[in-house]
Amino acid sequence: MTNPEQNVYTQIGAAGFERLVGAFYRHVAEEPLLRPLYPEEDLRPAARRLRLFLEQFFGGPRTYMMERGHPRLRMRHSPFRIDQAARDAWVRHMLAALDEAEIPEPAYSTMRDYFERTATGLINSYFPT
Ligand code: HEM
Repeated sequence: MTNPEQNVYTQIGAAGFERLVGAFYRHVAEEPLLRPLYPEEDLRPAARRLRLFLEQFFGGPRTYMMERGHPRLRMRHSPFRIDQAARDAWVRHMLAALDEAEIPEPAYSTMRDYFERTATGLINSYFPT
C-alpha cells in the first residue's frame, strides 16, 4: 500500500508545484506576520527551496536532497521565531494557495493535512510578543 503523499507528484506534476509555490510566495510578500521572517530580500531562492522540497516529499525528483542534504525541517526553522500566530498565517496562505493553484482532489486533501500537521510541529516559540 503506497503512502498517499507519494502519489501527489503524479497527480499534479511539476506545473502544480510551480503554481502552488508561486501563489504562496505572492501571499508571503504581502503578509506582515511572515515577510519579516524571511532573511533574503529576493524571495525567489526561498520559493525554489520550498518547491524542490515539496516535489521531493510528495513523490517527485530528489533534487532538494542533492542540493541541500537532509531536510531536517525543525532544525532549519530554528533561526526563525515561529509562534502560533505565524504558524496560522503560514497555513492560511498555503491553503489559499492550494485553492488558487486549483490543486485537485485527492492531492488537495493530502497536502492540506500535511501542511496543517507539519506547520504545527514547527512552532518553536510559545511566548506572546
Ligand atoms: C509544512 C510546513 C513547512 C514546510 C514543509 C516548510 C519547508 C521549508 C523549507 C524546505 C525551507 C528551506 C530550507 C532550506 O533548504 O534551507 C524553509 C525555509 C523557511 N521557512 Fe518553512 N516550512 C514550513 C513551515 C513554515 C512556517 C510555519 C514558517 C513561519 C511561520 C516558515 C518559515 C520559513 C522561513 C522564514 C524560511 C527561510 C527561507 C529561506 O529558505 O531562505 N516555514 N521552509
